[in-house]
Amino acid sequence: MRIIALFIVLSATTFFASPSQAQDAAAGEKVFTKCKVCHVADQDQNRIGPSLNGVIGRVAGTHPGFTYSPAMIAAGKSGVKWDESTLTTYLHAPQAMVKGTKMTFPGLKDDKDIANVIAYLKQFSK
Ligand code: HEC
Repeated sequence: MRIIALFIVLSATTFFASPSQAQDAAAGEKVFTKCKVCHVADQDQNRIGPSLNGVIGRVAGTHPGFTYSPAMIAAGKSGVKWDESTLTTYLHAPQAMVKGTKMTFPGLKDDKDIANVIAYLKQFSK
């Protein structure tokens, strides 16, 4: 009886622990198809949007050779640096976080998609 109870406790723990480990770069690559029209991540190349190669840890609006909106440059000057937390806020609603950004993307609704796409971007950041 005790063994069965222990088994139940253990499987419940694994079940509830999994969402926090849910960052999945492979799933993130699929989410990134929405960004691909404008962004490249696996190479350091600017397109319609700045290269997202090495974006984690970058101060907003500072990739060389890209003409950012004044809004994005101002965000960087005010201290926005791309990490898990700032990217989560931005990707949820780009226009809300950086008012006047020229990134005409409405944002991702699903928190899991956001976590996964960040995991994908991390692969191309030091
Ligand atoms: C329609 C084109 C377009 C799409 C789609 C798009 N972006 Fe962007 N993105 C841009 C542009 C343009 C900028 C520059 C914004 C500015 O200067 O205000 C930008 C800026 C960014 C930045 C800031 C980079 C920096 O160097 O400061 C990040 C991060 C970003 N995009 C991530 C994403 C992700 C992730 C997706 C997909 C979920 C995505 N974008 C979809 C066009 C796009």
